[in-house]
Amino acid sequence: MGCRAHSAAVTDLSVAIGGVRLKNPLICGAGEHVMSAAGIESALSAGAGAVVAKSANESEAARRQLDRTDYALLDAQWRRLPWAFAPPPDATLFCRSGLAQQPFPEWLEMVARLDRAARAQDSYVVASLILADLERGAAMAGEVEAAGIRVLELNIGAPHGGEAAPGAITLEREAGRVAAIVARIRAATRLPLWVKLTGQSEDVAALAAAARAAGADAVTLMGRFMGFVPDLETMAPLLGTNAAIGGAWALPLTCRWLALARRRLGPAAPLIATNGARSGEDIARFLLAGASAVQMTSAIFTGGFGVVPRALDELRDYLARQRCHAADLIGKAADRLQSYGEQPSRPGYWKAFVAPGGVGDDV
Ligand SMILES: Cc1cc2nc3c(=O)[nH]c(=O)nc-3n(C[C@H](O)[C@H](O)[C@H](O)COP(=O)(O)O)c2cc1C
Repeated sequence: MGCRAHSAAVTDLSVAIGGVRLKNPLICGAGEHVMSAAGIESALSAGAGAVVAKSANESEAARRQLDRTDYALLDAQWRRLPWAFAPPPDATLFCRSGLAQQPFPEWLEMVARLDRAARAQDSYVVASLILADLERGAAMAGEVEAAGIRVLELNIGAPHGGEAAPGAITLEREAGRVAAIVARIRAATRLPLWVKLTGQSEDVAALAAAARAAGADAVTLMGRFMGFVPDLETMAPLLGTNAAIGGAWALPLTCRWLALARRRLGPAAPLIATNGARSGEDIARFLLAGASAVQMTSAIFTGGFGVVPRALDELRDYLARQRCHAADLIGKAADRLQSYGEQPSRPGYWKAFVAPGGVGDDV
């Protein structure tokens, strides 16, 4: 099922998130690899439509948490893989992270300078605040705008929130609290405001609706989960703690909430996907599920910046095959989502277990 017989010789990768036009939907998501100017410049040179710089806030405890980070790349049997910048597509990343350690004014100057430079590449460097104290967060949002940075992402769903020092990182799971926080930050800045939410909630779409109603220009869905991995050799917890976990397996979980959020908020509300993209085809899957753009983090952190042009080539190939532009994909599969009751009756695999001489009789 294609889009339309578009006659343009060149496939258009551009997408819009409200008033922000991106040259392509691949956003390099926030992580340690985009904490320094060198990392952000590499992401821009690799062709990312935007880069979200590693997050900051005012908390000293959140900064110090970066000294205690640890990372394990795992295969499908939960065995450690080497860090060789060539992870298999089904690798899982299990890790603790912390926040950018520069003093806030230094971080702000770096992000503002790189966002100015990004204009020449038709790209953006987005400032990201992980909320700690709300009033300090509002003041920082104002400073981000005053520094000339063009887009702000506010993350109120960082998975580490429950494990980090109290007050260092907000993990908000309640719609009323999301609304109050977003309204306060909205009042502090006129910048395009993207709000990144947790996936660790019973109703992620309700959080998205609350964020949007309180003034978010876009909602980023959804933060990773927390996990616990016992190590068979040491019989201790791998990395010693619970930690955030993500992999290609998370893509369907994120897609489901994207589709449900699209249904709840309507197609005009821009959604940004995060959590599960490992390839250009995954970017297409997220667009089909309702995202207008896709943050890719672990794939680049573990695979290097070469992942960006490879993913863009893959996306371009897919779009050319389907005779679609990137924006044509947005929500196409989500809008065809049906209920169980709408499905026709099918032969049913389970019948193989009850039929005489079937699978069930072999054992
Ligand atoms: C090592 C690491 C550091 C991260 N740091 C941040 C951060 O500072 N701010 C933030 O909003 N998200 C951060 N994230 C979350 C990612 O941006 C992303 O939302 C998440 O990893 C899921 O997407 P993925 O499957 O593409 O990795 C981090 C993720 C990782 C793996």
